[in-house]
Amino acid sequence: MLATLTTLQEDALQEITALDSLESLESWRISYLGSKGRLKGIMPLMKDVSKEDKPAVGKRLNEVKTALESAFDSRKADIAGSSSPRPPLDITEPGVEAQHGRRHIITKTIDGITEVFGRMGFSVAYGPEVEDEYHNFNALNIPEDHPARDPIDNFFMGGDRMLRSQTSTVQIRVMESTPPPIKIIAVGRVYRPDTHDATHFSMFHQCEGLLVAPKVSMVDLKSTLFQFAKSYFGEEAEVRFRPSFFPFTEPSAEVDMKMKIKGTWQWVEIGGCGLVDPKVFEEIGYDNNKWQGFAFGLGIERVAMLKYGIQDIRWLFENDARFLRQF
Ligand code: DAH
Repeated sequence: MLATLTTLQEDALQEITALDSLESLESWRISYLGSKGRLKGIMPLMKDVSKEDKPAVGKRLNEVKTALESAFDSRKADIAGSSSPRPPLDITEPGVEAQHGRRHIITKTIDGITEVFGRMGFSVAYGPEVEDEYHNFNALNIPEDHPARDPIDNFFMGGDRMLRSQTSTVQIRVMESTPPPIKIIAVGRVYRPDTHDATHFSMFHQCEGLLVAPKVSMVDLKSTLFQFAKSYFGEEAEVRFRPSFFPFTEPSAEVDMKMKIKGTWQWVEIGGCGLVDPKVFEEIGYDNNKWQGFAFGLGIERVAMLKYGIQDIRWLFENDARFLRQF
């Protein structure tokens, strides 16, 4: 009987190591430990064991049974663990920190500028970046021989198509499609084939403004830009005009704003402006006796770089997350 038990145990433990599915494991369990299994099958032999030997054989029987049961349990755990599609879930383990995206510094600047002009009642207009010479030059009273039309300073694309070199094109597009009065800003990309360096890039952003109303003066223009400067740069900000020339405004001025740079308030040139030239209204078909207007154009990168202390315009467009994350 003892020898039979040992053989049974050896057979069972050897067989079980080859099993790799829960189904085959279950068949194994039935054939060894089941009610008609091999272990139960040798029970009748007990009656042939002598009285003295019975305790020892009974003890051995229990040992074999326990050994098979624990072999079954551990093999079952192995198979269940390896066939499981995912590792056991530890809900107390710290997670992977989510990467938060953020607005690009230029987008942030545009949003800030738009917000301030929005509060002053300006709505936002858009125009195409691929333009024609009529909207980029002719309609803005820029004559054929004007130096701004030099092929060296523009991305001409064949025919009269070009990448717009200024957002002043949107003034024309808005006036073509909308009767006065008008009060818009237009923000977007412009393109000029400048050699890239710390202050030049072949693509940059401008914020254009256009107001058309029955009576508009330089005072309206300056006070609007003054309000903008105060809201955007802070209470101590100021605006200064210097006489200048643009073909589409008369009179025209360069706009300087006093803003805080590295702790001190300094004058910085940030754009151009003026009263809409009557020749522009004439071209559009607006009545110069009924309507007047002001316009301005501000450089977004300049505003952003000064406000945030960025020394090189190229950093804005290299998409280096280590740089962009700072803002
Ligand atoms: N378009 C001009 C430029 O790119 C900027 C500008 C000047 C826009 C005067 C205006 C303006 O609307 O009135 O240099």
